[in-house]
This record gives sequence, C-alpha cells and structure tokens, in this order.
Amino acid sequence: MKAVAIILAAGRGTRMKSRLAKVLHPLAGVPMLSHVINLVHSLHLEKSFLIVGRQAEAVSALAKTKGVIPLLQYPLLGTGDAVRKAEKALKNFQGPVLILNGDTPLLREKSIRDFYAYYQRENATVGLLTVRLENPKGYGRVLRQKSGEIARIVEEKDATQEERRINEVNAGVYLCDAAFLFEALSQVRSDNKQKEYYLTDIIGIAVSQGKHLVGLEAAREEVIGINSRANLADAEEVMRTRINRHWMDEGVTMIDPSQVRIGAAVAIGMDSVIHPGVCLEGETIIGSGVQIYAGRIRESKIGNDVIIKDHCVIENAEIESGAAIGPFAHLRPGSVVRKGAKVGNFVEMKKTELGEGSKASHLSYLGDATIGKGVNIGAGTITCNYDGLKKDQTIIEDGVFIGSDTQLVAPVTVGAGALIAAGTTVTKDVPPDALAVSRTKQENHLEWAKKRRLRQKGV
Ligand code: UD1
Ligand code: CA
Repeated sequence: MKAVAIILAAGRGTRMKSRLAKVLHPLAGVPMLSHVINLVHSLHLEKSFLIVGRQAEAVSALAKTKGVIPLLQYPLLGTGDAVRKAEKALKNFQGPVLILNGDTPLLREKSIRDFYAYYQRENATVGLLTVRLENPKGYGRVLRQKSGEIARIVEEKDATQEERRINEVNAGVYLCDAAFLFEALSQVRSDNKQKEYYLTDIIGIAVSQGKHLVGLEAAREEVIGINSRANLADAEEVMRTRINRHWMDEGVTMIDPSQVRIGAAVAIGMDSVIHPGVCLEGETIIGSGVQIYAGRIRESKIGNDVIIKDHCVIENAEIESGAAIGPFAHLRPGSVVRKGAKVGNFVEMKKTELGEGSKASHLSYLGDATIGKGVNIGAGTITCNYDGLKKDQTIIEDGVFIGSDTQLVAPVTVGAGALIAAGTTVTKDVPPDALAVSRTKQENHLEWAKKRRLRQKGV
C-alpha cells in the first residue's frame, strides 16, 4: 500500500479505570495495541508512526521491532492534536495517511486493503469507515446532509438528544490526503465539551471545502473501540471466535469452542483435540494428535500424540511425543518430559528432565533433577533440593527403581539400575545396580495390639 500510517495510542483511557494504559491491556494474551501494530506492519507501508503519551516507554516498546516510529504527545489535547505530532516527520510526504486508533484492535488486513482500494478508486481526499450499531453509545455519530452525503461527525458528549439517536457511527479509521490533513488540523479548535482538538472535525472541514469525502461501511465486529472493560470482554469474544475458527479450519477439533481460550501466538497441529476449559497462552506450540483436557498451558512445547488429562498447569515446559500428563500435574519452568514418559496425579516438576519411557505416576516433587530412561519413580518420592540456602541437583540414571516414599537429599546420584527400597532417605550416592535401604528393621510383637485393646476396655 502506498501510504503512511499514524496509530493513536497516547490517550489516558480513563474509562478503563486502570493503572495500566488502555492500549497495553491484553487481548488474546497480547497488548491490544500489538494487534494494531501487527496490522500496520503487514500492510508494508512507507512509514508508520505511533503517537504515545501515557506510559510512553512501555507503549513505544511494542513498536520497536516492527519499524514503527514512536512520537510523543504531551500534554494530551485530543486526537486531532495527536495526529499533528507527525506533521514535521511528514513534511515532504505527499499521498494518503492511514489513521488508526490504538484501541480498535479487531480490524483485519483485508478490510483496510479494501478501504484503501475504494479510496483510491474514488479519488477521494478523505475516507472514513462507518458502522451502524444497535447501541452507538460512546462513539462519534455520523451526521448526514439531506442529500445523504456525510456532513460531519459529532462526538457523543457534544451531541444533542436527537443526534445521539443516530446509530451510524465513526469507526475511527481514516484515509486522508496528507496536505489536506495538516492544513485542516491547523484550523481545528477545542471549543467543545471535552476542550480537546478532535480529529473528527476534519470531516466537516472537508465538506465545507468541497473536498471529495467517502464513507465506507465496515464490519461491525472489526471496529469495536475498546473504552471500557466490558468492551474488552466483547472484543475478547470476537478474538476467541476468530482464533478458534482458524484452528478448526487447520484440522483441530474443539468440543466446545466457546470454552477454549487460545492466545494469538499459539500454534496447534492437526488432529489435536481441545476439550472444554483449556487455556493455551504465550508462544505455545502443540503438535498433532494431541488430546488436551481442561487446564492451562503457557509458553510450552508439546510434541505429537501427547495426552494431557484434566487440570494440569504447565509453564515453560517441553513435553515430547507420546508422553502422558495428569490429571492434576504441575509442570513448572524447565520441566522436560521425554518421549513416552508419564507424569501422573499430583506430581510437581521444576527444572527437571524425566527421561524416555520413565514414570512418575503419583504424588511427587521432582525439582532440579535429571532422570534417565526407563526409571520408575514411586508414589510420594521427593527430591529434597533446597537446604535453606541453595538448590542442589539430583541425578537418577537409566533403569533405576525408586520405591515409594523416598526422599533424595541433594546433591545425590543414583547409579544406573539401582533400586531404592520404599521409605528410604537417600543421603549419599548409590552405586549402579545396588540396593539402598535406610530404615530400621521391622519387629512384629505378636498379640500386642489385641492386648492393648483389652487393656483400654479395662478387662
Ligand atoms: C474516537 C472518535 C470517535 C469514534 C471513536 C471510534 C475522536 C474525537 N473521536 O472517540 O468519533 O467514534 O474514536 O472508536 O477522535 N488518543 C491520543 N491522544 C489524545 C487522545 C486520544 O493519542 O490526546 C488516542 C487514544 O489513545 C485512543 C484513540 O486516540 O487510542 C482514540 O481516543 P479515545 O479517547 O478512545 O476516543 P473515543 O472517545 O473513543
Ligand atoms: Ca476509543
């Protein structure tokens, strides 16, 4: 597209009632502004600018890798004032400027391209996207002349009762000839309810100068402007539907997509089945043929044909093909589950590798451990990795059998093929193929229990 873009993202976002700048609030797991920046990036424009103000540093950071240039607006005097911040940088530019709001993150690339094509075809000076809404509350209303042509935009706060009833609104997306834009903005006054310089006033100015102005109706769901938490939830629903549709088109089954949340940066292989109550976050990659039940997976890599049963929490972990996890497993950062391994109920892992085909089926804490192939970790096994000052490593070599209720006091190594008897506290290294037992010999006192019972009854 032969144009430049200006994204407005300096505003306070008062209606969000938040410490966080509005445009930084996450939508599908990434800041809402990132969706707009990605859109602009995909249009391959000559130049793009981002107007920043509130929490300028954090907001600018989103633009960095996308070749979008941040410009500071201070004080915040309205959308018209915001656009003027790019005037100097565009002094020698001739052509259309695409203006987008940073709080309108659902726009699709195709819609912008269609809008641009229409604007070019019409040879217009100003173009804007409009939309009819059942509930137009909060948006600027489009006032039309008797002829049906657009006359001007009136902001809700400045609108009369009658004007507020108009349900055709301004979507906040414009294409505008650069020369006209900055000339018109120099005429905009702040004599309105909000004492702001409204970008929307350029519409009336264009009409009064007889410029060719075109309005194009946009898809309702794409132009939701996020001003409040309720709007954010609405947008989240649109996003969720879109993302879930996309993955279903790619061959993923969802039993009930309304109960599945998949982040914008997640990838899923075909023939995977996502059950209700699943949350996939961050840059998570799921292989093909994977079954996932209710739970949360974040920044993790899951191989093919893995099954993740209900209520697992998995973060910064890697699970290789054919492994089985859960129910109720907690894989913390640095957990690696190798091919065909099994992690069962109430097992917590952290910075631990569980080797190929190994099993930790019940009730264990495995932290800072390297566990080889074909190992069996009995129920209730605990790696005692922390002595109150520092963390130490536990190494369990291939083919080891760890009996139930074993404590491994790190640093410690259990050699290949060794067997640890149930209830053992391992405090020193175990040689390969050895048996380690650390418990007192059992004594059976015959009839003892029975005698006690009788004593208690006073017999
Ligand atoms: C704006 C439009 C309204 C339109 C709606 C569409 C104006 C005056 N009104 O209203 O007609 O229906 O968008 O969603 O433009 N911003 C700045 N600097 C400022 C003020 C705002 O950069 O001084 C940024 C905000 O961060 C935001 C965008 O501009 O991303 C829009 O501002 P907002 O206050 O949300 O405008 P609306 O009242 O929604
Ligand atoms: Ca808005």
